[in-house]
Amino acid sequence: MIAIRPATLADLDAALALERACYPPNQAYGAEEYRYSLGRAKAVNLLMEDEAGVAGFVGAFHHRAWRVGHVYTVNVHPSRRGLGLGRQLMDACEAELARLGMERVVLEVNVENADAIRLYERGGYKLLRRLPNYYTQYANNDAFLYEKILTAPQGPTPRRASP
Ligand SMILES: CC(C)(COP(=O)(O)OP(=O)(O)OC[C@H]1O[C@@H](n2cnc3c(N)ncnc32)[C@H](O)[C@@H]1OP(=O)(O)O)[C@@H](O)C(=O)NCCC(=O)NCCS
Repeated sequence: MIAIRPATLADLDAALALERACYPPNQAYGAEEYRYSLGRAKAVNLLMEDEAGVAGFVGAFHHRAWRVGHVYTVNVHPSRRGLGLGRQLMDACEAELARLGMERVVLEVNVENADAIRLYERGGYKLLRRLPNYYTQYANNDAFLYEKILTAPQGPTPRRASP
């Protein structure tokens, strides 16, 4: 059974192992970056697990003043791709960001990362612009900047005041 739960600093090794399974060494975030994000209060970090272990991870920061969330990574283990897990992780992250009052989500993606671009576009993200030389570690270092407007979380329907 697949479960998604908040990740903490205790999950550092698991998140790092997944990162290393998902990217070549020159592209992977390291322990320092994960320690920073997992220890940060203004972040949504979610770990996905099943019987076989860690299946996925998504991380985002949120900025209350601007009401914007910023997804910094989403990873699905190579053995579990194409099963809708990336979509589930993005949905869970967006729902949590909306619950925290965020009105939109932004993210960057390498222009050559076709799988991630498909995940985002099919999930309702709209291309804002191309960011030349955003990265330093790719053959093509340009990024696409995407944005999604979040719908407010559904609460109880407000009662109409009696006349
Ligand atoms: C990008 C990534 C998270 C997608 O995870 P995933 O679990 O395979 O994606 P899903 O199965 O949820 O697919 C999501 C959508 O993208 C499409 N998609 C994703 N990967 C695809 C592939 N290899 N081929 C065809 N379609 C693909 C699916 O059709 C699906 O569309 P749908 O929801 O309309 O059916 C995964 O490939 C990954 O971890 N890549 C390495 C890390 C990475 O690059 N992360 C993004 C950094 S910006």
